[in-house]
Amino acid sequence: TNKTSETFHGITFPGHLHTQDSLHYATHFKFQDTDTLIVTYPKSGTTWMQEIVTVMSCKGDAVRAQTQPNWNRAPWLEQYYCPDVLNASQENRILTTHLPYNLLAAVIYVARNPKDVAVSYYYFHKMAKFLPESGTFSEFLSAFLEGTVHYGSWFDHVKGWTNNARNIHNFLYVTYEEMSRTLRASLERVSEFLQCPLVEEELTSTLKSCSFSSMKKNCMVNYSLIPQEIMDHRKSKFMRKGKIGDWVNTFSEEQSCTFDAIYTSRMADSSLTFVWCN
Ligand code: PPS
Repeated sequence: TNKTSETFHGITFPGHLHTQDSLHYATHFKFQDTDTLIVTYPKSGTTWMQEIVTVMSCKGDAVRAQTQPNWNRAPWLEQYYCPDVLNASQENRILTTHLPYNLLAAVIYVARNPKDVAVSYYYFHKMAKFLPESGTFSEFLSAFLEGTVHYGSWFDHVKGWTNNARNIHNFLYVTYEEMSRTLRASLERVSEFLQCPLVEEELTSTLKSCSFSSMKKNCMVNYSLIPQEIMDHRKSKFMRKGKIGDWVNTFSEEQSCTFDAIYTSRMADSSLTFVWCN
C-alpha cells in the first residue's frame, strides 16, 4: 500500500494520484467555454453530482454512466491521468476538482454538513489505503477540525469557494442535504444551470440513475472496480450510508459540543447554514 502524500501550496494530497506536475497542470488548466467543473471538499457529494451531470447530459440515458468509470467521464483535474483522459476536441466536458478556490477559477460547488463529512471521511480513511491511518475517531476529528487532513481545512474550502463566488462567473451552489431531500428540484436547478433542458421522462430517468440504491449497484461509480489493496470494501463501502445526520452514530455528546464551538467561531464570517439531521 502506498501511504505517500504530495504537498502543494501547503496542502497535502494522496501521492498515488497526485504529482507536482499534475497539480501544476490543474492550476494552469485552460478551460473551454463548454466545460463544466464540479467542485467539492471530499465526501460532500462529488460522486453523486458526477452521476447527475453525466446522466443529465445524456438526456436521462444511463448507458454512459454504466459503461464508463466516473473518473474517466468526469476526471479530477489534479489527478495524474487527467491529460490522458481529456480530449480537447470534445465539447461539454465534465471535470471534477477538490482544489481550493485560490488555485482555480470557475463551477458547481457541492457542500455537505461538516459533521457528516467528518464521519464519512473517517470511514473512507479505513477503506482507502492511500490515505494516512485515521487513528481513533477522536484523533481524526481533531485533525479534521485543525485542517491537517488531506485536502486541507473544510472551513477554508467551503468559505474560500462561497465567499468568493461573486468573482466567479457561472457559479451554482448545491448542498448534499438539498439533493437528499428534494433530488428532483436539485436536478431541475442543475439542468437550468447547464442549459440542458429535460422533458419529464428524461428527468425521471435521471432521477432513477442518481438514487443512492442505483449508484450503490453501479460498479462504474461505486468504486468496486478498484483493487482491494487500494480500496478495501470489506472495511467500509464507498457508498456507505448516504444519509443526512448519520454523524450522531459516531460523535459523542462531548465531541459534538466541541465541534459546535469551533464551527460557530470559524463560520462567523460566513452566511451558510446547513441541515444537521433528517
Ligand atoms: S469523494 O471521495 O470525495 O469522491 O466522496 P464523495 O462522493 O464526495 O462522498 C461520498 C459520500 O456521498 C454519499 N453518496 C450519496 N448519498 C446519497 N445519495 C447518493 N446518490 C449518493 N452518492 C454518494 C456516499 O455514500 C458517501 O457518504 P456516506 O455518509 O459515507 O455514506
